[in-house]
Amino acid sequence: MVKNTKNEPFSWGSIQSPFFVLAPLDGITSSPFRRVCKKLGADVVFSEMIAADAVFYKSEKTLKMMSFHEEERPYIIQIFGKDLEKMAVSAKWIEENIKPDGIDINMGCPAKKVVSGGRGSALLQDFDLALKIAKAVRDATKLPLSIKMRLGWDEFNIHEFAQRLEKIGVDAITIHGRTKSQGFKGEPDWKAIGEIKKLVSIPVIGNGNVVNAEDSKKIINTSGCDGVMVGRGALGNPWIFQSMKEGKDYKPTWEETVEVALWHLEMSVEEFGGKKGIFDMRKHYGWYFKGFDGASELRKKLVVAENIKEVQDILKK
Ligand SMILES: Cc1cc2nc3c(=O)[nH]c(=O)nc-3n(C[C@H](O)[C@H](O)[C@H](O)COP(=O)(O)O)c2cc1C
Repeated sequence: MVKNTKNEPFSWGSIQSPFFVLAPLDGITSSPFRRVCKKLGADVVFSEMIAADAVFYKSEKTLKMMSFHEEERPYIIQIFGKDLEKMAVSAKWIEENIKPDGIDINMGCPAKKVVSGGRGSALLQDFDLALKIAKAVRDATKLPLSIKMRLGWDEFNIHEFAQRLEKIGVDAITIHGRTKSQGFKGEPDWKAIGEIKKLVSIPVIGNGNVVNAEDSKKIINTSGCDGVMVGRGALGNPWIFQSMKEGKDYKPTWEETVEVALWHLEMSVEEFGGKKGIFDMRKHYGWYFKGFDGASELRKKLVVAENIKEVQDILKK
């Protein structure tokens, strides 16, 4: 049985509500950023989406993308795909070899490269296939299984689908309160998340445009969701998890921000090596230092720094 750091098995049903989750963000939620968010208060963290086909064929790059550190637990690996056998085999392989605390299936991604292959949110156009995939993965692994989805493809119609997922044995669902057709436009419909919450008894995690403590109170009050998932709101602001827990926004000082950004950079270099580690951090600088005086000048200097020492020198000035 998988144990978390407290030596208890993780289950979606046993975390105290409300709980706060770092969303899967392709190209962003790698291990160093997950460790930052976990340390600063995230209750659960998700991997970036992982192609089940790539796990099936043992792509070195993909296997490396799934690696994690013990302090990230509970750590959920999100897979995407549309082939039943590859989804099931990869979930089992992940359970046995990577040993995360849960598997999540991506049924929400609207990106062209994902949807055009019939994966991600495209599965919301074919509930029968989506249910078969969920069942195949359910049967293949004993790990907690969650599904991340949107309100529907082009209309809000996941009511019965959510109930059928629960019947299959899915342990939790995350709902981003928009349809696929909406992309990231408009306001997410948190009330709609509440409609689904009333129909199922497994935990429902609400998601979409939560960027501060006030939003997290509102999404919980509006939808009755058990947990809140935050994606873009955590970029440069991993303190958001603490803010949501305390119900009051925490504003880090310049010194704290520098300390966390440098720690993030050190982990990034350690994890990916000098070149990629430094490169990967470049997108984070703008997010971390947004709002401080001279932020855009600072960012310009940081994105050309080539090693940790150069970054440290720039930040000390
Ligand atoms: C850059 C980026 C990458 C994303 N990658 C994934 C992903 O890998 N898997 C997934 O299910 N959703 C992905 N999403 C969607 C987020 O997990 C989340 O559902 C969405 O951003 C809404 O939440 P937010 O408003 O808190 O960001 C991504 C979103 C963004 C902006």
